[in-house]
Amino acid sequence: MLKIIETPRDAMQGIKEFIPTKKKIAYINALLKVGFDTIDFGSFVSPKAIPQLRDTAQVVEGLDLSDTKTKLLAIIPNLKGAQIAESFDQINYLGYPFSISNTFLQLNINSDIGKSFDETEKILNLSHKSGKELVVYVSMAFGNPYGDLWSPEIVYEWTRRLHQIGVKIIALSDTTGVGNPDTIGDSFRAVINEFPEIEFGAHLHTHPENCTENIKAAFDSGCRRFDTVINGLGGCPMSKQKMIGNLKTRNLLQFLKEHNIDHGLNLRAFHNARALEAFTFPSGLSIPKS
Ligand code: HMG
Ligand code: MG
Repeated sequence: MLKIIETPRDAMQGIKEFIPTKKKIAYINALLKVGFDTIDFGSFVSPKAIPQLRDTAQVVEGLDLSDTKTKLLAIIPNLKGAQIAESFDQINYLGYPFSISNTFLQLNINSDIGKSFDETEKILNLSHKSGKELVVYVSMAFGNPYGDLWSPEIVYEWTRRLHQIGVKIIALSDTTGVGNPDTIGDSFRAVINEFPEIEFGAHLHTHPENCTENIKAAFDSGCRRFDTVINGLGGCPMSKQKMIGNLKTRNLLQFLKEHNIDHGLNLRAFHNARALEAFTFPSGLSIPKS
């Protein structure tokens, strides 16, 4: 079964105007009724880095998980974040933003590949003790906008190491939207059959115009886990690149419909959540078309 990870965290993190905690809670509660596999709902990061998500601890306490199978994922940039997230029983997954780009790691979490790999291992050990699962994002998986070395072989090599320490879920990520069907297909093909124990996902920051071909490249290479955002907003504000948005949920659903693949979502609840967007996100944001 295909898994959809709805990702309001990525949509909200770059918005300067603070979205009130109550609005975040109401919106995420609406998303919890839709039937997504997981909601990447917030992050435990430095409030200086991402002021928008400084209320994640209050948000999680306001969520209604009484009638949902959807699991919660929080992004944590270090062991400290993992220790905070660990104290919330409501959270199932810790998401760690690893990367094969030293430049991005420096910008995003003031780290480098070696340090970040060691931190991954520490977080993985903690997650085992606390009964949570770790999702490792491998940013710059489909190309590199900073001029750092990139190739599917590098993606393979770091996946091999992550596999060796016991990572079970990896989301290959296109933080700045430089991927194309060739590079997306090449990177997935480099790892997906080599590590059958790992669940691979696609975290695509992609323009609406080329999202279908990028989804297809990931899907045809065997990926069955996709991160989406209903209004397609978002990106990493630390990347020093233009935020081009996230894969729109509707565009993924369209692709699935055309390929007769069941998504299992409650479409009425989906439309209710969409209707709440205008009350949640500040007005004047440029929402990607289509
Ligand atoms: P640093 O300045 O090197 O860290 O930042 P530090 O250890 O010196 O701490 C600085 C301050 O942050 C201290 O507070 C710490 O206590 C605090 P002060 O003493 O100055 O008051 N701090 C924290 N507070 C809350 N939670 C924490 C935490 N850690 C330290 N976990 C640091 C390093 C990693 C903290 C910082 O760079 C950071 O928070 N970065 C996160 C950036 C971020 O959230 N980026 C977006 C999410 S990742 C993403 O979008 C990519 C993804 O979508 C995939 C893709 O698209 O490719 C997942
Ligand atoms: Mg992202």
